[in-house]
Amino acid sequence: MKFLRQFFKQTNIKQEYNNKISIDEEYPKDWLDIHFKMYPRFNSIKLKKYNDTNLLQKTVLERRSFREFNKKYAIDFDKLSKLFFYTNRIKNKNGNSLNSRRPYPSAGARFPIEQYIVIFNGQDIKQGLYHFNVYDHSLEKIREEDSRLFFKEICNSDWISNCSALIILTCIPLRTCIKYNNRGIRYILFEIGHIAQNIMLIAENLGLHTCAIGGFDDKKIAKYLKCNKTDEYPLYLISLGK
Ligand SMILES: Cc1cc2nc3c(=O)[nH]c(=O)nc-3n(C[C@H](O)[C@H](O)[C@H](O)COP(=O)(O)O)c2cc1C
Repeated sequence: MKFLRQFFKQTNIKQEYNNKISIDEEYPKDWLDIHFKMYPRFNSIKLKKYNDTNLLQKTVLERRSFREFNKKYAIDFDKLSKLFFYTNRIKNKNGNSLNSRRPYPSAGARFPIEQYIVIFNGQDIKQGLYHFNVYDHSLEKIREEDSRLFFKEICNSDWISNCSALIILTCIPLRTCIKYNNRGIRYILFEIGHIAQNIMLIAENLGLHTCAIGGFDDKKIAKYLKCNKTDEYPLYLISLGK
């Protein structure tokens, strides 16, 4: 679909962000001001505040972005399995994939998001690129390699190479757009946020740290995944480590 190709082309980072500021410059003021909408002339009702927190509330409150990772920390296979098991799996397979559901909502249950993981430093799992097979709950090894320098460069961030792993979320828009046409693109963006939040909260709950990463070179990641000539687009990265 032409609209989809244009959307991804026109929102590539190189045009939007990289040209505006170099990494050593200070951010301009309008990037630092945080705005709050208020209705000062209307009556306001103060809401209650709480000190007690259950595990879910604590996890939500404690999640924050980390950019300092211990290079020596190797992510273990048990944590990885749990991360995928609780964030993205088919809950009611019953022998067929029709009417299946996952731990996040999906417009029309079309499930357009694919998930990959790049292991930088793993226990019981080799460095390299893996695809998460949601149907089988398995990691499919695409290739073994050390890609820390590659990601450091394409994300323009030194700290990336110290993470233990990097999750790459891609989308295959046609799965959703075939049903919802161009409006489907909105649904895909909502949905990737749901999955990413699942990943960040479960990771926090497993004692891992994360950072959401939207700034990267689309073309280079697509090439890395070998999806550059297909209708699959990389959308979001999440770093994992301690
Ligand atoms: C869509 C999105 C894209 C982001 N992209 C980046 C990024 O490219 N690099 C980075 O260091 N942080 C990135 N972040 C993290 C934000 O900077 C961070 O969430 C924000 O400063 C608030 O801090 P907190 O996550 O600790 O609450 C991104 C966050 C979101 C939601």
